[in-house]
This record gives sequence, structure tokens and C-alpha cells, in this order.
Amino acid sequence: MPRHFLRDDDLSSAEQKEVLALALQLADDRFAKRPLEGPRTVAIMFDKASTRTRVSFATGVAELGGSPLVIDAGSSQLGRGESVVDTTEVLTRMVSAIVWRTFGQERIEEMAAHATVPVVNALTDEFHPCQILADLQTIAQHTGGLAEGDAALAGRSLAYLGDGANNMAHSYLLGGVTAGMDVRVASPASHRPDPAVVARAEEIAATTGGSVLVTDDPREAVAGATAVITDTWVSMGQEGEEGRGEETFAPFQVTAELMELSGGIFLHCLPAYRGKEVTAEVIDGPASVVWDEAENRLHAQKALLTWLLEHPDEDTAAHAL
Ligand code: CP
Ligand code: NVA
Repeated sequence: MPRHFLRDDDLSSAEQKEVLALALQLADDRFAKRPLEGPRTVAIMFDKASTRTRVSFATGVAELGGSPLVIDAGSSQLGRGESVVDTTEVLTRMVSAIVWRTFGQERIEEMAAHATVPVVNALTDEFHPCQILADLQTIAQHTGGLAEGDAALAGRSLAYLGDGANNMAHSYLLGGVTAGMDVRVASPASHRPDPAVVARAEEIAATTGGSVLVTDDPREAVAGATAVITDTWVSMGQEGEEGRGEETFAPFQVTAELMELSGGIFLHCLPAYRGKEVTAEVIDGPASVVWDEAENRLHAQKALLTWLLEHPDEDTAAHAL
């Protein structure tokens, strides 16, 4: 069985630490690992738009000695209705790993069930676990120091403001508590996280010393937080949905005043919409680490691919929704 990375809790706390430690090492010594030498090919597929994920995976695979094959839905038979299973049967005989950005989580779960090579979630409607690895690396770099590396996150707090029901919120909940962090999500009552994800996060937190807070009070969430984070109020595929405007989300905009209450750093997975989920003053200001965060997509994903290829024979950590 190959190892897959479909959700943040597919890595145990100890495994996540190993990946993050390697990511920190690769940020320092970019060409330290060449597991794809050959070159071995990695398929990187997109059913939705992407800038960072596309460039970081393509660059990362090349830097690991491999050959990236970037496929857009519009240029593949998958985009014309070929089934996930048939696509997987073909790809899995040719490439060494599959990275996929798609819609429902069930699609990538189906692919993983049929793949004999690692499958990596490059964003679904429900989760964006690669982004969280990069974000945890960024928080460790900026608040813990490289030397502490993997130990720098436990006991620190992460406050996410905005759409609590989207992929980023869900991944911060699972990935943050896996790192032993206190994860706080502040969102309108209409856009709270999936209760099953919250329950799973609480279960993990009980084993790592982390904690979970879901609130509709942004000030409560950010008070003293190590990192304040937000994301677009309108995720891909939600354009035109009712209740996605300022009337719903304005109290959760990350402002200089909220950053002062935190005293921490500001992260955003990007793309960002200045004047909506965050003010320009904050994202372009001194507490913002968004460019390091974007760069860390490269290091974290190289570390993840290396780790998955080095651990081919163990089962993906069980998760239950
Ligand atoms: N943060 C992120 O995943 O960016 P892209 O959509 O540009 O890949
Ligand atoms: N929540 C956003 C993240 C983009 C990287 C979306 O799904 O569009």
C-alpha cells in the first residue's frame, strides 16, 4: 500500500513533525533530496485554477530529480467525463505519484482507493492539507526559529477568521491540532466548520495537547494568537452564491486593530482580496509573512513527496468522518 495525503490527519503528529523538519532542511539546502532521480514522473492535475500549487509542485518535482507532468481538466479525458477510476488505473501504471486539485473530497478518496502510487490532495472543496504544511513551516520559522524546528509549534495558537466552513478552515482545524496548536476559528454562525471535522480535531487535540475553539467573536479568537489567518470569502466554485458578501463577513475582516490584539504574524494562503477579508495595511504590513508562506509551498511539498516515497509500506493513518 502506498501512503496517501488526502487530509491533514493522514499524517500523525510524529509524522507531520518529520515532514516539517525535512521542509525546514530543504528551505536551507534546496537540493538535499533527489528521490525522483531517473527521472520519475509525477502527474499534477488541476480541475480548478491554480498559480502557487501548480508552480510549487512542478518546480518541486523537478528539484527532486523528477519530471513534472501538469495536466489541466480541459486538456484531459477526465475533463470530458472519463471516470476517476479509469483515469487512476492508467496513471498509476506510469507515474510515481499523483497530485490532484479537484472538487469533492470523495473524488480524491476514490482515486486513492485505486492508486498503487501516492496520491496527494492539492485542494478539494473540503481540505487543502498541503497549504497547512507550508503554513506550519512558516509559523515555525517566524516564531520558533529554525533550530527548534519541529518542536516550535506545540502550545502556540492559530486564529482563523472568515469562512469557517471552507477547505482552509477545515485543514487548519485538523493540521493545527496535529501540531499540538490551539486552533481558534471565528466565523459567522451561517458559515461554521463541519461539526464532524471539529469533532475529529477535538479527538486529535486530546492526544497532542492542542485545543479547538469555534466562536463568532473575532476578538476572542485573535487575542494573543501567534498567527492570525484568513482566506477569501468566496472559494472556487462558490461564485454567485448568496450570503457571501460583506453583509455576512465584514466583522471578520482582519484589520490592524485585530492584529494589535494578537501581537502575532499574519498569514493568507492567497489569492487575497484586499479590502475584503483583509485590509491592505495588514497584508502589506510588517506582521505579514505571506511571501515566505507562498515560498514554503515549494519546500513543504518537496518534503511531503520525499517522505511519502520513503514510507511506501505503511497504511495511511485511519481517519473517520
Ligand atoms: N494557495 C493556493 O493554493 O494558491 P493557488 O490556488 O494559486 O494554487
Ligand atoms: N478557499 C480557497 C483557497 C484557495 C487556495 C478556495 O478554495 O478557492
